Amino acid sequence: MTDQYAQATAAAEYIRSRAALAPTLGIILGSGLGNFASMVEQATTISYADIPHFPQSTVQGHSGKLVLGTIAGIGVAVMQGRVHAYEGYSMEQVTFPTRVLSLLGVRRLIVTNAAGGINPRYGQGAIVAISDHINLTGTNAALGLNEPRFAAIPGAGQRFFDMSAAYSPTLRKLAITEAARQGWMLNEGVYIAVLGPSYETPAEIRAFRTLGADLVGMSTVHEVIVARHMGLEVLGLSVVTNMAAGVLDEPIHHEEVMEIGRRIEGQFTRLLAAIIPQIAAA
Ligand code: HPA
Repeated sequence: MTDQYAQATAAAEYIRSRAALAPTLGIILGSGLGNFASMVEQATTISYADIPHFPQSTVQGHSGKLVLGTIAGIGVAVMQGRVHAYEGYSMEQVTFPTRVLSLLGVRRLIVTNAAGGINPRYGQGAIVAISDHINLTGTNAALGLNEPRFAAIPGAGQRFFDMSAAYSPTLRKLAITEAARQGWMLNEGVYIAVLGPSYETPAEIRAFRTLGADLVGMSTVHEVIVARHMGLEVLGLSVVTNMAAGVLDEPIHHEEVMEIGRRIEGQFTRLLAAIIPQIAAA
């Protein structure tokens, strides 16, 4: 077994040696959403490849860069691209960047992703605030020896930890209010995570709807589980890049997932830019 804490500490030390600024807000950008990183001012951009022990994304549309700097004067660490379990990475590797963000000083985390829409009320391109998740990936991000040194706040870092408000109701409400102020409705929904990389069958999607899921994707839950282990507050945002299998009588293509991400980029960027100072102040 690798010593994830020692490796994450080495990665954080390297990042600190490259960027003087201490981020308090972390942002993980999902498929097609990477351009948000251009919002960062006084940016230091570090390739994942240069950071000790950092896993490399193998997926088209995930560029693999960590951007540190400020947005509206708030210290941010933005991950342009993430790694997924379906690429063959272990849970330790998938959660490694989230552990490093916390060691850098991040206490609030915005996780974003591309997701399939199960709830027929969502249209393609809808942005949805994740209210809760169902982890159907068959594994758990906090698997292995417990490492209490990852605690970011007193009382965190326990072997067993609460997931009953994994997605902060406060941060979610703030995002919903801001979207309304910008003239559109930010829906809430339950995200079900599968391992992938195959998209789901229509029968699976029918089953997931029965289970109470509104969105389906292949990421996010692992990051959120370790974030909660450490005591970070989380806001989760999904972009519905396609309706899930069988909702419409159409096949699903990764190109479409990327294209929709790019198309809603303006709306997504406006929302994030407006809520970042509010999140920092919440
Ligand atoms: N299923 C799973 N993951 C996804 C999908 C989907 O339909 N769209 C984008 N990510």
